[in-house]
Amino acid sequence: MYSRIISVGSYQPDNIVTNEELEHKVNTSDEWIRTRTGIESRAIAEPGQATSDLAILAADAAIKKSDINKDEIDLIIVGTCTPDVATPNVGVIIQESLELNSCPAFSVEAACSGFIYALNIANKFILSGESKCALVVGAETLSRITDWNDRNTCVLFADGAGAAILKPSEDTGIIYSEISADGTYSDLLYVPYGTSRKPINEKENDYFLQMKGNEVFKVAVKKLESIAINTLKKNNLTSDDIDWFIPHQANIRIIQAVAKRLDMPMEKVIVTLAEHGNTSAASIPLALDKAITDGRISKGDRILLQSFGAGFTWGTVLLTL
Ligand code: COA
Repeated sequence: MYSRIISVGSYQPDNIVTNEELEHKVNTSDEWIRTRTGIESRAIAEPGQATSDLAILAADAAIKKSDINKDEIDLIIVGTCTPDVATPNVGVIIQESLELNSCPAFSVEAACSGFIYALNIANKFILSGESKCALVVGAETLSRITDWNDRNTCVLFADGAGAAILKPSEDTGIIYSEISADGTYSDLLYVPYGTSRKPINEKENDYFLQMKGNEVFKVAVKKLESIAINTLKKNNLTSDDIDWFIPHQANIRIIQAVAKRLDMPMEKVIVTLAEHGNTSAASIPLALDKAITDGRISKGDRILLQSFGAGFTWGTVLLTL
């Protein structure tokens, strides 16, 4: 028995901000952003749009693309580091809005690895028999914790949401998944203010993401290489056996470096950075949905998903769609 992704949906806000527009806000250039990051534009939520608003639309799209009745959903897990409020969690807000049945609904706080963590957990619920139909979401409004006067970060981060429906299946689905973290890197990428240790003081504008980009870059390449190699080894596979590689969409140079180390031709790598930017927990389901929708990925393909995020957290999911 496996758990299988039976459908995927996503949502990007309508408000698209191009690199040229950022040139008017900070001392940067379209050329710098394109060559150093691979990003050309990004979607930013409207002021009234919260993370759950994006998540609900992505979840609804995934439900509509599946053959399930929404009453079958018996588990909701959301990866996000930008929840609407401290409580209720985004999963509960989705549940209420889409009028889903009473069931466990919670969010997972693992930054950019949020979706992979959520998928890993949902897989275990399905394999144990405790869930027969899980809704797994990655959703973020990173624009809310981004300092729009800081060129080091504002050119990278963006908003969006992606969702998947998971069901038990006798056909191959999720083959392998691993997640991990190392808190010794926490000072390389973090938000100093939040709800407990340092409550947010709106006047100070100090609740924005702080990042040592260069150092994050180096650790990301090393970790992503080693977890991908580990996943392939543990499953007696090589990169030739993978149809599609979907890494976290953070920086094209990170993606290219990892692909090179894995001997994975870029033709097999799904890259949506140009139009998505780094949407944190939403990045992988957004990329997966795009590649299914445009016909690149189809049923039966073997896919390696891979995430890396603040914490640091990281993880992989190897699956057959
Ligand atoms: N526009 C123009 N110049 C910029 C800039 C911007 N938006 N941001 C930084 N610079 C400048 C720097 O100030 C520096 O100038 P200096 O040489 O005069 O000091 C120069 O560009 C090079 O900066 P550096 O930080 O070495 O650039 P980089 O090639 O490492 O690229 C990042 C910077 C942030 C794009 C890159 O390090 C990165 O993507 N890191 C990983 C971040 C990440 O993925 N975070 C999320 C993890 S999930």
